[in-house]
Amino acid sequence: MKNIVILISGRGSNMEAVVRACAAEQWPARVAAVISNKADAKGLEFAKAHGIPTAVVSNKDYPTRDAFDAALQQVIDGFAPDLVVLAGFMRILTATFVEHYAGRLLNIHPSLLPLFPGLDTHRQALDAGVLEHGATVHFVTAQLDHGPVVAQARIDVRPGDTPDTLAARLLSEEHKLYPYAVRLFVEDRLSIVDDGVVIAEANKI
Ligand code: GAR
Repeated sequence: MKNIVILISGRGSNMEAVVRACAAEQWPARVAAVISNKADAKGLEFAKAHGIPTAVVSNKDYPTRDAFDAALQQVIDGFAPDLVVLAGFMRILTATFVEHYAGRLLNIHPSLLPLFPGLDTHRQALDAGVLEHGATVHFVTAQLDHGPVVAQARIDVRPGDTPDTLAARLLSEEHKLYPYAVRLFVEDRLSIVDDGVVIAEANKI
């Protein structure tokens, strides 16, 4: 049974999708904790209502990024994680933190990486005039929004789309994509090879 620790900063709808899929599909895993850097993150209520331990580590309580990440790491490690899942966790993490969780830290980013790293990805996509947009689940490396890609979901950009309509349409795809990717991890079907990810077939002998 693998322990998953999920980090959020707000709404937590991707966290919710992972929690629900983990239970419904009986993964060999449990969501051991949901941790937020914001005390008022909406997603904490869902976690509590589902009996999942929660914690808040506020970045405002620490003078430096290093100090915050060290405190966060200590709290995460208290839950003995096999996997740490960033689900709308809106903090840039230090190389030391990322290195500590190398190979067991996943992120979802709302663009088809390597296109549009950083913020305002839907606006970036519209400004670039792309016909296709999407989301990416990737292993986290020290370089922001880079790292071996596990899976992507794609949507068409439609005439009249705004950042909000794109975000909304993409979010429902994220809710399928992230559980799919996390499940692959907890079933030991992901390997990182030459900076890429190889997905093993189910039930391969
Ligand atoms: C999601 O769209 C996720 O892809 C994005 O924030 C949203 C969080 O929603 N993540 C990032 O932008 C990370 N840089 P949620 O809190 O409802 O899961």
